Amino acid sequence: MAIERTLSIIKPDAVAKNVIGQIYSRFEGAGLKIVASRMMHLSRAEAEGFYAVHAARPFFKDLVEFMISGPVVVQALEGENAILKHRDLMGATNPKEAAAGTIRADFADSIDANAVHGSDSAENAAIEIAYFFPASQVFSR
Ligand code: PPS
Repeated sequence: MAIERTLSIIKPDAVAKNVIGQIYSRFEGAGLKIVASRMMHLSRAEAEGFYAVHAARPFFKDLVEFMISGPVVVQALEGENAILKHRDLMGATNPKEAAAGTIRADFADSIDANAVHGSDSAENAAIEIAYFFPASQVFSR
């Protein structure tokens, strides 16, 4: 199995619920290593840039407003099959459809405020990690 990296964001709703540690425990319990980490309050430009691929979607404006509504915690995760493993831990985008025991089933309230983001492909993971972390701030272990 390939060692991969993926980009994870703990969104403002989950930060406000004080579950950063619980979410980190799930990553570590699944064998994912946190190889980069930062807490930040995204600017509008940063959020719009990150979600640029969704700029034409009807929910884009609300998504950006939500992502700048409070601090987030951004991390790069590394491990075997990390991209799919992380998406399995997150659960479906809509928490109402998320499997029991997933992060979104346990901590998210709605599709608009769904607790976490995770890269959906190796190509996007590389782009998204580089969006937040220069190579010198990613610590492979
Ligand atoms: S897609 O079609 O697969 O690209 O869409 P998806 O990855 O499921 O969602 C894109 C991001 O937009 C967030 N979002 C919403 N998606 C769908 N409907 C509504 N109303 C909505 N509101 C926000 C969704 O959580 C995805 O964000 P990330 O951060 O990637 O999880």
